[in-house]
Amino acid sequence: MKKVFLVIVSLVCLSITTKADEGMWLPQLLSKLNEGRMKSLGMKISASDIYSINSGSLKDAVVSFGGFCTGEIISKQGLVLTNHHCGFSSIQNHSSIEHNYLQNGFWAMDKTQELPNKGLFVTFIIRIDDVSSAVLAGINEKTSEIERQSIIDKNIASLKNSIAKESYQEVLIRGFFEGNQYYAFITETYRDIRLVGAPPSSIGNFGRDSDNWMWPRHTGDFSMFRIYASKDNKPADYSADNVPYIPKKALNISLSGIDKGDFTMIFGFPGKTMEYLPSVAVDQIVKYNDPIRIMIRDRALEEIDKFMRNDEKTKIQYAAKWASISNAWKKWQGEVLGLTRTNAVAKKLKFEEIFQDRVNKNPAFAAYKNLLDDFKKTYSDYEPYSIAKDYYTEIMSKLELFRIVGQLNTVSNAYKKTGEIAYQQKALQVKESLEKFFKDYNPEVDKKVFTALLKIYLSQENRFTSAILRNLSASVNNNYALLTEEIFKETELYNEEFVNQLLSKSGEEFVSTFYSYKALKIYSDMVDTYQSKVDAALIPIQNKINNLQRTYMKAQLEVMKEKKFYPDANSTLRVAYGQVNGYQPRNGVQYDFLTDLDGVIEKYKPGDYEYDLPEKLIQLYNKKDYGIYGKNGKMPVCFIASNHTTGGNSGSPALDAYGNLIGLNFDRVWEGTMSDINYDASICRNIMVDIRYVLFIIDKFANAGHLVKEMNIVYPKAKKK
Ligand code: ARG
Ligand code: GLU
Repeated sequence: MKKVFLVIVSLVCLSITTKADEGMWLPQLLSKLNEGRMKSLGMKISASDIYSINSGSLKDAVVSFGGFCTGEIISKQGLVLTNHHCGFSSIQNHSSIEHNYLQNGFWAMDKTQELPNKGLFVTFIIRIDDVSSAVLAGINEKTSEIERQSIIDKNIASLKNSIAKESYQEVLIRGFFEGNQYYAFITETYRDIRLVGAPPSSIGNFGRDSDNWMWPRHTGDFSMFRIYASKDNKPADYSADNVPYIPKKALNISLSGIDKGDFTMIFGFPGKTMEYLPSVAVDQIVKYNDPIRIMIRDRALEEIDKFMRNDEKTKIQYAAKWASISNAWKKWQGEVLGLTRTNAVAKKLKFEEIFQDRVNKNPAFAAYKNLLDDFKKTYSDYEPYSIAKDYYTEIMSKLELFRIVGQLNTVSNAYKKTGEIAYQQKALQVKESLEKFFKDYNPEVDKKVFTALLKIYLSQENRFTSAILRNLSASVNNNYALLTEEIFKETELYNEEFVNQLLSKSGEEFVSTFYSYKALKIYSDMVDTYQSKVDAALIPIQNKINNLQRTYMKAQLEVMKEKKFYPDANSTLRVAYGQVNGYQPRNGVQYDFLTDLDGVIEKYKPGDYEYDLPEKLIQLYNKKDYGIYGKNGKMPVCFIASNHTTGGNSGSPALDAYGNLIGLNFDRVWEGTMSDINYDASICRNIMVDIRYVLFIIDKFANAGHLVKEMNIVYPKAKKK
């Protein structure tokens, strides 16, 4: 009886562990750490097909897109696929009321129509080297924190000079496991990236913010770009003479479709995770940090929303800002929910109990004895300052007039430091960047946001707020709308022409005028107060926490030997793997793993801001005109799997067992966004748009089939039978 029970228990455990694998793994270590496991989940290729320094592995088809997303190469002519929300600001920059590419989509019907994007780049990873021993040379247990950093900086600087690379390549050295290990990345960055195509937002961002972070999902979240290179296929600044880049590797595209249990893998650049925090840190996030940030964004969004609903121009102007403010806002809400529901803090405590017990029993671990207690004490010192920091950063970043003031302040600093010539240069730079800013600026929106957020700012303890602002507020009886007027009415800093005139004065005149402004005085006092009252206390505590966290990481690696560790995400190239699978969001509810066009039509609300659809898509649906992309009369749209992903993985290729492209990662499910802090296999799922939907939209909806002809389409499942 007992034996049978044990077998059942171990089977249950096994079935749990085979469902999903936590982790964002280093591609160069897959053969050592993960290959066997990946094969047992269904992978049919080898680790060296994924990463090899001899050209032609899958990694050569994956790029960091602009440093904030991931993209992949899908044709021999440098075609890059990424998300619509990753291409968003490029699409928006080319949009106006007359050419509203956000609303109507954009398709280059030949290469001459492809649109350049200033500042946009993609980066390839050529090679990854372990440089831990060189970077950490000269450091021992006794090295102080400050010394440590200066030794590391020196070592990195000299390493950068000695690492073998071509003149057009760069070296990036990054710390892993909290600086317990270091890797060097040899990279190539291409800077002439042109927009090739984007569906209308009603497809590319269907469901908008209501559906964001949610499953079931029905969004065609993709856009296409092309990499251009010099005539010798090397990185180059934009030039009309540049030619389409010829890649080392372009992904094959599978139209075989996906089934439950299929192996999938996500290859991309996840930005930031914090999987190894102590329980006290997670507790603070759940109790304070997330709720405060959510509350502040609540108010900002509420004000912006009123304008966007009533005015077409403001809607275009604030679309990108809205999307970015609301994105994290919604994620944090899911995070709090998920951490609470899965008892993350209790689980961490349990883990810490085992850790502490092993440490206590083994004299070799004596150095770790007080770690957890030190954490507790340090985090309690940290709390008020970390809360004040959240207030400050969340509020300041949303006060747009202060963005202008801040920029002008850099100009005046340039004058004060280096004189007239530096002033002129800086003024030119700032003019240019403010030109972009003013295109999307509406002072009326800004005033409402000021009113709402200054109120929140002043609700903090006095020691964390600007005395000048407090006094001004008192002088208008703490009427925050009047307070805002006081700040806005004195000058016309919200007016582009006014600012440009200011910037065309001589340096001396500029500085004396600018220095008399009330807006500057308040802004500066808020900055100074933050620096002297918050940062001054916070930074030493933060350093202490970083130090503890590094030791704790090292300790976990040594003490919890049976656990397989992956380093936290740090915007470097990673592989996550898992299987296609639905999940149970709550008791009694089961979610399927795949959606199709029927569901898009179900959500359709004519004229709605979030759920309107283009007429053409409805016609294609009515005729079931899906070409080679549909299956059994259905047009697949999105699917989910258990890959461990995070922000920055947007646009990452979803690959099948053979390394063929089957989809594009773009989101996670609401219940599982806490995977940044504590992955839980039962509810963490990443969301991908099915590649068949992408090609259907390009070919059937946009009549841009010439782009599909550039791609290499395969049917691995048909071949297998
Ligand atoms: N949640 C996704 C991510 O973190 C998509 C964001 C863009 N979509 C949106 N509706 N705002 O980037
Ligand atoms: N949408 C996210 C991004 O832009 C990916 C979703 C996630 O955070 O997992 O990177």
